[in-house]
Amino acid sequence: MKTVCQTEELRAAVAKARAAGMKVGLVPTMGAFHEGHLSLVREARGENGFVVVSIFVNPAQFGPDEDIGKYPRDLEGDSRKLEELGVDLVFAPGVEAMYPPGAGTKVVPAPGLINRMCGLTRPGHFEGVATIVAKLFNLVEPDAAYFGQKDYQQSVVIRHLARDLDFDLEVRVLPTVREDDGLAMSSRNAYLSGDERREATALFRALTAGGAVIERGEREASRIRAAMQEVIESAKGVQTDYLEAADAETLEIRERLIPGRVVLAGAVFLGKTRLIDNILVDIPE
Ligand code: PAJ
Repeated sequence: MKTVCQTEELRAAVAKARAAGMKVGLVPTMGAFHEGHLSLVREARGENGFVVVSIFVNPAQFGPDEDIGKYPRDLEGDSRKLEELGVDLVFAPGVEAMYPPGAGTKVVPAPGLINRMCGLTRPGHFEGVATIVAKLFNLVEPDAAYFGQKDYQQSVVIRHLARDLDFDLEVRVLPTVREDDGLAMSSRNAYLSGDERREATALFRALTAGGAVIERGEREASRIRAAMQEVIESAKGVQTDYLEAADAETLEIRERLIPGRVVLAGAVFLGKTRLIDNILVDIPE
């Protein structure tokens, strides 16, 4: 496994693999790996001759009130895990390598994808994500790129980014990896106190409760939101940021659900920690 920090070295290493006829898979990350990240790496390893994992805590996707300095970093531990999984190349650039002085061009996702859910609480976040992911797509030109369903709105933004800007690659979105009690794995779970960690399962339980009322025939979005909210209110110290039922493809929010795939998505605060999660529900004709 090789680790490079400069874009020229990245391009050269990928070009060599491609010249040797290998399929190239890319897993973009911000590091501090848990099993969710590693599941993406394993899938990429299984499907490609050459696997690139990028590790970059992207300042452009953090808001002014979000402490990027506190984001967990462990390049050494992360590298050991990637080595064990047989990754070929780690790209771990510094901020200067990705944003040289004067770099100001941004990729702006379609308004309908970001003027809701996480986009409301985190203005500018998805521009930051779309810009860095577009840059990584241009640098690596992968055959396939791997993302987690855990960040559902992000996965939709990236699918649309690839389609709208004609990136010739497959966007693969893999299932959310959870702890035994249902909590979606996240680097941010490490910020939770013991009490908060116990209450944190409320989000997944709320989404599951929303899914259950849909299964029982409920189609009114307000009642589905209320069923989810009830579970959050029964937990101690958990505040709702949002709970939504949206079209899984377009993120459109309808007051009455129609047949097709729906994403139940939510974000909650436990103290200062914000957690997100989602589940998919298929509504029959
Ligand atoms: P990061 O939070 O490090 O996540 C990297 C990838 O791991 C994302 O695609 C995310 O959806 C996925 N992931 C996180 N938790 C997961 C879980 N429990 N199960 C399955 N997959 C999970 O997301 C980002 O970084 C950044 O926004 C990035 C796309 C790298 C752009 O900077």
